[in-house]
Amino acid sequence: MRALGGETLDRPPVWLMRQAGRYLPEYRRVRAEAEGFLDLCFTPDLAVEVTLQPIRRFGFDAAILFSDILVVPHALGQKVWFEEGIGPRLEAIETPAALSQLRPEGLHEALGPVYETVRRLRVELPPEVALIGFAGAPWTVASYMLEGGSSKDFAAGKRWAYGDPETFQQLIDLLVDATGDYLIAQIDAGAEAVQIFDSWAGVWPEAALRRWCLAPAKALTARIQAERPGVPVILFHRGAGLLYRDFDEESGAAALGIDTTLPLGWVRAELQSRLTVQGNLDPQVLVAGGAALPEAVDDILQTWAGGPFIFNLGHGIVPETPIAHVSRLMEQIHGWDAGERRTG
Ligand code: CP3
Repeated sequence: MRALGGETLDRPPVWLMRQAGRYLPEYRRVRAEAEGFLDLCFTPDLAVEVTLQPIRRFGFDAAILFSDILVVPHALGQKVWFEEGIGPRLEAIETPAALSQLRPEGLHEALGPVYETVRRLRVELPPEVALIGFAGAPWTVASYMLEGGSSKDFAAGKRWAYGDPETFQQLIDLLVDATGDYLIAQIDAGAEAVQIFDSWAGVWPEAALRRWCLAPAKALTARIQAERPGVPVILFHRGAGLLYRDFDEESGAAALGIDTTLPLGWVRAELQSRLTVQGNLDPQVLVAGGAALPEAVDDILQTWAGGPFIFNLGHGIVPETPIAHVSRLMEQIHGWDAGERRTG
């Protein structure tokens, strides 16, 4: 929380996106107990347990609520399910008329178990471990709603947005409102900070990225700042490239989640001078390990640990990640001494 407030700490705090998940045997055991993945998200006993697992094993400085970005379309009344080996599936929304079937008034009732999970986590977590709530950004969530699942080219969402921007705007506006309601309820249940995942921001050209990613991020951040002042917002808009600067200057976020591709020195000069940066180890270097891992970690620490910084990955941890590599990463960060910083 101090790092999110802009402080430079001697040893940077660390958590990993998707830190609860299939790379952990204890997660796989709990997952096998739940009927489907959504049942895991909506059963507070199980969701609390899997949120705490990576904290116990590795001593991360923050816990992220265990849930998924697709609980929001589910709560709006869209059919969502997860298929083994495939990933998320949704009954795709294919026409503007179908948007009227979305039911924002049912949101809080459907998401009640998530709020219960947050309340219990706040009680169970040691006070020095921050609790981060989250939601998907409107565009990333919309892309799943319109494609009916994951996509390679985002054709359905893009064609809708370019061909009929008025009704696409209606969907985005609906998601801005629902996501804001959802994040504020998480904060009221005990989340100390919130992260907004726009994992697919990088598929747009500039004007569309400003309209469908930056503007909704600004609206959400402004609402949280107005209604729950002091609660930091972390924006992760993967692939936004040079437009990270505009998110920095215009969004009101406390921190930006930096993806794997941004140059470290550019981030330090252009972004970290004004806000906290979080990232950006390549999840695949954590799988590979070897000499590449400590080198990549050292590059990040050397460049960013002298300013407001939270160590993380540049995208979510993958199921193939060896646990020993995560332990090695933690040893390196915990052993970091600000004095090691090369000067110049
Ligand atoms: O970070 C955490 O530990 C909190 C939990 C979390 C999950 N998903 C659990 C999950 C978070 C923050 C998410 C975010 C999420 N979900 C995003 C944005 C971040 C990103 O990675 O880009 C997206 C795009 C989704 C949608 C989603 N959920 C996909 C594409 C998949 C399938 C891919 C996969 O890894 O299986 C999921 C499923 C999912 N969400 C799993 C977990 C642990 C695996 C499901 C299982 O256990 O069977």
